Amino acid sequence: MIPSETEFAQAVVLLTAGELVAFPTETVYGLGADASNADAVAKIFAAKGRPADHPLIVHLPADDWVEHWAQSIPDPAWELMESFWPGPLTLILKKQPWVPDLITGGQQTVGLRVPGHPVALELLRRFAQRNAQGGIAAPSANRFGRVSPTTAAHVRAELGEQLMVLEGGACAVGIESTIVDCSRQEPVILRPGHIAPAHLAEVLGFAPEIETAEGAPRVSGSLPAHYAPNTPMRLLRPGELDALSPSVGTALLAHSPALAARAAHWPAGRIKLLPAEPVAYAHNLYAALRALDKSGAEIILVELTPDAPAWSAVNDRLRRALAGSN
Ligand code: TXA
Ligand code: MG
Repeated sequence: MIPSETEFAQAVVLLTAGELVAFPTETVYGLGADASNADAVAKIFAAKGRPADHPLIVHLPADDWVEHWAQSIPDPAWELMESFWPGPLTLILKKQPWVPDLITGGQQTVGLRVPGHPVALELLRRFAQRNAQGGIAAPSANRFGRVSPTTAAHVRAELGEQLMVLEGGACAVGIESTIVDCSRQEPVILRPGHIAPAHLAEVLGFAPEIETAEGAPRVSGSLPAHYAPNTPMRLLRPGELDALSPSVGTALLAHSPALAARAAHWPAGRIKLLPAEPVAYAHNLYAALRALDKSGAEIILVELTPDAPAWSAVNDRLRRALAGSN
């Protein structure tokens, strides 16, 4: 499962030449480019169909590269790095003046992360030996607005066979990193993830606020024109399941065995029963959405998940998928 010596070497040659390489991280697969090469970074935006004002996360081999990219780093940020890197945490910090606008979306801050996957770390270490800045910019390796890939096969299905994809198995976490903005007076969570507010509180002494740009939860109703996956999704209404005929082409994303059992007579492949525990649910979520997307259903119904802090990362991703944004 670990790429060969030759594959790592080839990946570094491609990155150094300004080409793209997809690689596994513990969260999701990333679509990587030399973060100090604007032409290479531009290829990420083109491959994803992503608007150029969306900032990218720069992946580093270790925290001793951080001051090369960021300045005025506050103590809480160092403490978070110490506790959670390598791992599924991205820190937003004040950028060094040289960091390209294409990386930061023209902002004065940069997102940095040392990922916890051995293949990502090996790639980053080897790349940094050949590149003075040592950063690989990598968004999730999916088309813009679609479900993030958690296997190498997902990446190939999204972005084509031409792209080099380093193999690293299924991502352990399965949803994108927690993003904490440390460029402000007080740290704020911009994207909930596997590292929950309670984990951050153990280090910071308080749980940061969650401040996502997504707005209020979308309960049901009409969907915008684009959403991830391709098949429309909406929340299952109470009592709705019993009234549904299996012939109407519905799929179900459930976490209650009793609910899934009531849809057991539906066509094969139309039901995904995820674990009723948020970490395991997150690990399986994107693969389940991809599978249901391919099931031929016209709509994916989602069982409402608990409105509890431990579910905040899952609820955030479901809300985005339901709203059709990314
Ligand atoms: O787990 C992850 O973070 C994955 C893996 C590949 O590392 N990457 C990922 O990248 O999810 P992407 O591009 O799909 O999401 C990056 C997020 C975006 O929501 C972006 O707005 C935010 O990070 N971001 C990056 N730089 C930022 C900055 N300077 N200020 C605010 N948000 C930033
Ligand atoms: Mg993404």
